[in-house]
Amino acid sequence: MASSLSYAASISRPPSSPSPNLRTLFPSGIRSRASSPISHTNRFLRFGVKCSYADAGIKDTNSRTIDVEADIKAERIVVLGGSGFVGSAICKAAVSRGIEVISLSRSGRPTSLNSWEDQVTWITGDVFYVNWDEVLPGATAVISTLGGFGSEEQMQRINGEANIISVTAAKEYGIPKFILISVHDYNIPSFLLTSGYFTGKRKAESEVLSKYPSSGVILRPGFIYGKRKVGNYEIPLDLIGEPVERLLNATASFTKPLNSLPASDLILAPPVSVDDVALAAVNAAKDDDCFGVFTINQIKEAASGAKV
Ligand SMILES: NC(=O)c1ccc[n+]([C@@H]2O[C@H](COP(=O)([O-])OP(=O)(O)OC[C@H]3O[C@@H](n4cnc5c(N)ncnc54)[C@H](OP(=O)(O)O)[C@@H]3O)[C@@H](O)[C@H]2O)c1
Repeated sequence: MASSLSYAASISRPPSSPSPNLRTLFPSGIRSRASSPISHTNRFLRFGVKCSYADAGIKDTNSRTIDVEADIKAERIVVLGGSGFVGSAICKAAVSRGIEVISLSRSGRPTSLNSWEDQVTWITGDVFYVNWDEVLPGATAVISTLGGFGSEEQMQRINGEANIISVTAAKEYGIPKFILISVHDYNIPSFLLTSGYFTGKRKAESEVLSKYPSSGVILRPGFIYGKRKVGNYEIPLDLIGEPVERLLNATASFTKPLNSLPASDLILAPPVSVDDVALAAVNAAKDDDCFGVFTINQIKEAASGAKV
């Protein structure tokens, strides 16, 4: 923010010189706009900067003040399930990029003592009963990691209904982007994907695509590896996931003919790291032009694009 303001100040110019094209002077995300009040529900914050020729250290008695309005993109992401395995990786990735992050989950703040966690606003609540007024106003994107296993009824509820409620609320509050962490279909014929886990996910996906046709993002990872916390223990899923990912990458050209076989992806779908899923989600949240369904390979591509 400070650098943007000083950047704006540097455009002071002699009154006689031609007007600079502000669009070319400001990097993307900072554009000239007509004056209007600061709104936290807007994707942009506006800063009025008064610059004068004299401020630039040039002595000119004819110097006059130039008013510049700069729009600065202020990202604010709500992560539903930010305390979970994937959710906490998303919160961490967003925080490290200077994005304001709010997490909603029933357990609230995790018990670990990682310093980045201090920068997240942890809201304790259940998506089925939460007062969205305390969560959504001012958000520029919602990322949902809600999902899980259990009885048929529980899986329909958490993978389907919980997400549908969240998409509806986000739309009502005018949040411009919704990103859903869904799941790969493992190349299983759709008539066999009858488990509440998959049917719930697909209902949630339909809701995102219908309410957010030109900005909704669905990430469909297969097995996600990383360090999963269970109570005070850490399960190093990366010890399995990473070598399997490397092996499948190395043998991809040999196994390609098998990809068309039904359910072949149960063996051949490459695992993806939790950090890549997080980066892809954060990148999608920041990118106005990014929308649609992302396969495993597209998640990896989106993540590598976001790695700086
Ligand atoms: N892990 C994988 O290998 C994998 C693979 C493919 C797809 N996925 C999908 O990725 C997503 C994230 O998976 P994960 O492994 O990170 O799951 P997870 O660790 O169980 O995280 C789920 C999060 O959702 C929260 N949550 C659950 N019910 C809630 C409710 N009613 N209200 C508010 N928050 C609620 C949980 O916190 P509380 O319990 O404290 O509320 C937790 O923070 C899921 O949709 C999953 O299906 C995962």
